[in-house]
Amino acid sequence: MRKLRLGPARVVRSDIKNVTKQFGEDFAQTMAVKDCSFEVERGKFTVLIGPSGCGKTTLINLIAGYETPTSGEIVLDGESVAGPGRDRLVVFQETALFPWMTTINNIMYGPVVQRAREQNEIERRAHALIEMVGLGDFGDKYPIQLSGGMQRRAELARALINEPRVLLMDEPFRGLDDMTRELMQEYLLRLFEGADRTILFVTSEIDEAIFLADTLTLLSRSPAHVKSVIRVDLPRPRKLEMLTSKRYAELKNEVLSILYQEAMSAFSAGSRAAGDLVEAMNQRQPKQVKANK
Ligand SMILES: Nc1ncnc2c1ncn2[C@@H]1O[C@H](COP(=O)(O)OP(=O)(O)OP(=O)(O)O)[C@@H](O)[C@H]1O
Ligand SMILES: [Mg+2]
Repeated sequence: MRKLRLGPARVVRSDIKNVTKQFGEDFAQTMAVKDCSFEVERGKFTVLIGPSGCGKTTLINLIAGYETPTSGEIVLDGESVAGPGRDRLVVFQETALFPWMTTINNIMYGPVVQRAREQNEIERRAHALIEMVGLGDFGDKYPIQLSGGMQRRAELARALINEPRVLLMDEPFRGLDDMTRELMQEYLLRLFEGADRTILFVTSEIDEAIFLADTLTLLSRSPAHVKSVIRVDLPRPRKLEMLTSKRYAELKNEVLSILYQEAMSAFSAGSRAAGDLVEAMNQRQPKQVKANK
């Protein structure tokens, strides 16, 4: 894969400070996020992991500036976030490519409409990026002619061309088959490692979370707040073989035991779905992960 430096991630840090988000009014209120605080460090891969429906997308939308906190504050480089910005781009689970544009035009879309650079320079960067995500031969194809994994890669290139200070990714690989998902994780790591990028990535998959993260922020059940922060000290560059290492197994057990406690408390609070999760986890514990070294 060709290396391209697209300039440093200029963000120093982002702080999510005691953020609460409530939707609706009076009797139809939903508390999606409650007193949630965590930090996204510059040049690090931060992963948010939490149960389905706990408030992950709401947090991403708050940081992106698409939603406003009911209370608390989101601070980027010392400035309070007050709306969407090109410095925080989101890659969503659903494809957001324009179906009427070729892959290369989709990738160039941001800087072209913003007239951020000379056309020649935009084209040069788009071509370098399309090569980097392995779609060099698909520049003139339309999204419908690409596989799911190819669409995800095109979206990555489309986000990266804008050089966001923080790349926000909301379960971008959900729904892909296992093999494509692993490939996508490796692609993303190659794009991240060796480049000074800052990524906040949401997932509900434990293996994906540990494989990618420098910092793993575990969220509670709804309303989301931070249960635990785990430093993932696996060396970089990450390789899929690490998923069978002793350290990986220890980290996975740590994450599972926290999520297990969370599922237990959701169960005792009356959640049927959590009951199923507790039962499934009971079958996996205590030897859910076996290390080969
Ligand atoms: N615009 C909205 N209006 C009202 N309630 C909302 C809105 N957006 C989210 N919610 C509620 O907030 C809670 C958290 O939703 P959110 O989509 O953030 O969870 P999630 O963790 O991303 O879920 P999933 O794992 O399914 O992606 C849910 O109860 C949801 O119904
Ligand atoms: Mg979501």
